[in-house]
Amino acid sequence: MDIVADPRDMQERAQQWRAQGLSIAFVPTMGYFHQGHLSLMEYGRKVGDKVVVSLFVNPAQFGPAEDLDRYPRDLERDAALARQVGVDVLFTPTAEQMYPPDYQTYVEVGDAAKGLCGVSRPGHFRGVATVVCKLFNIVMPHTAIFGEKDYQQLVVIRRMAADLNLPVKVVGRPIVREEDGLAMSSRNTYLSPEERRAALCLQRALTAARRLVSARKSSREEILAVVQQVISQTPHTRIDYLALVDPETLAEVPAVRGEARLALAVWVGNTRLIDNALLVESKPCCV
Ligand code: PAJ
Repeated sequence: MDIVADPRDMQERAQQWRAQGLSIAFVPTMGYFHQGHLSLMEYGRKVGDKVVVSLFVNPAQFGPAEDLDRYPRDLERDAALARQVGVDVLFTPTAEQMYPPDYQTYVEVGDAAKGLCGVSRPGHFRGVATVVCKLFNIVMPHTAIFGEKDYQQLVVIRRMAADLNLPVKVVGRPIVREEDGLAMSSRNTYLSPEERRAALCLQRALTAARRLVSARKSSREEILAVVQQVISQTPHTRIDYLALVDPETLAEVPAVRGEARLALAVWVGNTRLIDNALLVESKPCCV
């Protein structure tokens, strides 16, 4: 595996691979790898002749009061893990290379970026869309792989790729969880042991909602009431948002008809965690 820091060097490699008829699978990340990241790389290994992983803690997607400075970093460990999975290139540009002093172009996605995390993190998806667009131009992937853990991010990137005619297939992959159900996240390292236990309420709330829908109670009010109850019973937590949305547009829906996504963001102590689940309408039994 090569570690490449220079965007021009990365782009030249991508152009050479393409000239040789090789397909490129790409996994953008901010590093501090866990099994969620590695599952995306493993999938990339299956669908691409070459797998590129970017590791870049993107300042443009962090708000002024957010955790850019304390975001966990461990390049040596990340490089070893990526090598084990069979990644071809780990692309590690610096902030100065990605955003030189005269930088002035941003990508802004409309409605898909406005609700959910867009409310409490203004500017976040502008930063995400901008860096992912730049990374697509540098890495020139045929397939780009994202986790459903950041479900709104996946929808925003799909929208950007469609709207800007980017020649990239955007693929979403399932959420990887710890054994006890907590969605893996680099930010889980911020949690104290007590908060780590409290964090399980996100998964418990999603499971309670799934049960409700299986029992054919599928209105937004019923579902969000149960979710709110599960979370508010848990110490150290504060709800940022709970939402039942259309899986493709992220518009709020009044009930689970067909499929819906239940998305939530919860503060556990000083750490903001997100999670989501697909809810599928249960059909009346025909027996
Ligand atoms: P990061 O948080 O490092 O996540 C990189 C990719 O891993 C994203 O597609 C994310 O959805 C996926 N991922 C994270 N936790 C996961 C889990 N438990 N299961 C499955 N996939 C998971 O998301 C970003 O970085 C950045 O916003 C980025 C897209 C790189 C742009 O800067």
